[in-house]
Amino acid sequence: MLPNIHSFDPELYSAMSSELDRQRNSLELIASENFISIRVMEAMGSWLNNKYSEGYPGRRYYGGNQYIDMIETLAIERAKKLFNAEHANVQPHAGTQANMAAYMALLKPGQKILSIELPQGGHLSHGSPVNFSGMLYSFVFYGLDKETERIDPDNVRKVAEREKPDLILCGYSAYPRQFPFEEFGEIAHELDVPCMADVAHIAGLIAGGVHPNPFPHCDVVTTTTHKTLRGPKGAIILSKERYAQRIDKAVFPGSQGGPFDQMIAAKAVAFKEAMQPSFKEYAKQIVKNAKALAARLMEHGFRLVSGGTDTHLVLVDLRPKHITGREAEIILEKVDISVNRNMIPGDPQKPWITSGIRLGTPALTTRGLKENDMEYIADLINKTIIHRDDNKTLSHIKEEVHELCKLHPLYPEIR
Ligand SMILES: Cc1ncc(COP(=O)(O)O)c(C=O)c1O
Repeated sequence: MLPNIHSFDPELYSAMSSELDRQRNSLELIASENFISIRVMEAMGSWLNNKYSEGYPGRRYYGGNQYIDMIETLAIERAKKLFNAEHANVQPHAGTQANMAAYMALLKPGQKILSIELPQGGHLSHGSPVNFSGMLYSFVFYGLDKETERIDPDNVRKVAEREKPDLILCGYSAYPRQFPFEEFGEIAHELDVPCMADVAHIAGLIAGGVHPNPFPHCDVVTTTTHKTLRGPKGAIILSKERYAQRIDKAVFPGSQGGPFDQMIAAKAVAFKEAMQPSFKEYAKQIVKNAKALAARLMEHGFRLVSGGTDTHLVLVDLRPKHITGREAEIILEKVDISVNRNMIPGDPQKPWITSGIRLGTPALTTRGLKENDMEYIADLINKTIIHRDDNKTLSHIKEEVHELCKLHPLYPEIR
């Protein structure tokens, strides 16, 4: 209950409260989503929103920043410790802004970046022609190995030697395997160019010790804070000390104005949470859950890109089931299972339709679901797709979804 919004703005309150019900009563399998703690929410919804603090701790363009300096310093020190980084900038408003600032720090417009395309698991901000990245920089791409659907570092090296990029980027939105930081670092250093990692999806797995750290192999690392890391919407940039000044300048004044101090405080809370022993258990469970989900889906005849997962996500090729990604997303939403359609490598469908769905376990792991629940969810997904034209079975599945949700209450402290 938000009593003040409730009494002042019932129209808005009603939509907010319906969204809470939706989150409570659906199985959230969108790989980039999570449920933040009430502590993180408290920081986000606080009076820190009121302050302007352009600049950095000790060097602000506004007065009255002594407490904001303490808050930002806490966030910086925690981020550095969590990821074993020499430098941290905690101001980026979002992952795309963090990538914009990182490119700006490392390159001049028009210079060349080696990355992977969106349909192969990359992100819009890794060179898509409809994004600032593709408009301002010259991108060349390596692909996944056609057989294994994994990154082949030898092929990346070949493309890098041929194309001579000014920056090599290792980062993915839909790659279910470990990111090869060490090999990318070696290739970049052989070419004497910086190596950047975008760990937006797997930051929580790195912090929790179930995925290798990009340092010391990479020079600059960007991440969102709201996916596996389970913090507020936002991002950070970590780097080696020699890039620190350039990164800070590229964030402010290069690409942003005043920082969102309330979000920086919320990032600090989330980093402290990620330092607790329980977060290590959480990260382990995310991966165990993803593996259990993957194994059961394969038993049901689904084809998984790369044949499984090492991380929090599973990329399902739906072609053997004769349904598109868009159709599957819509039909699963009907039974309150929340997923997103996703391109698969070499997808014959357009991005609006796709042949795949991407599933992830961070959010449901936060709710306390375990491997046996994941197997049950795989059964429900399979049943939904098989019986997609049978409304009676679909409504029965929806009841089963609600029963499972009830066993794992979300935000019981919020009435
Ligand atoms: C690898 C990667 N980088 C960057 C981003 C961008 O984050 P944001 O949506 O905060 O701009 C995402 C988000 O999905 C991502 O997956």
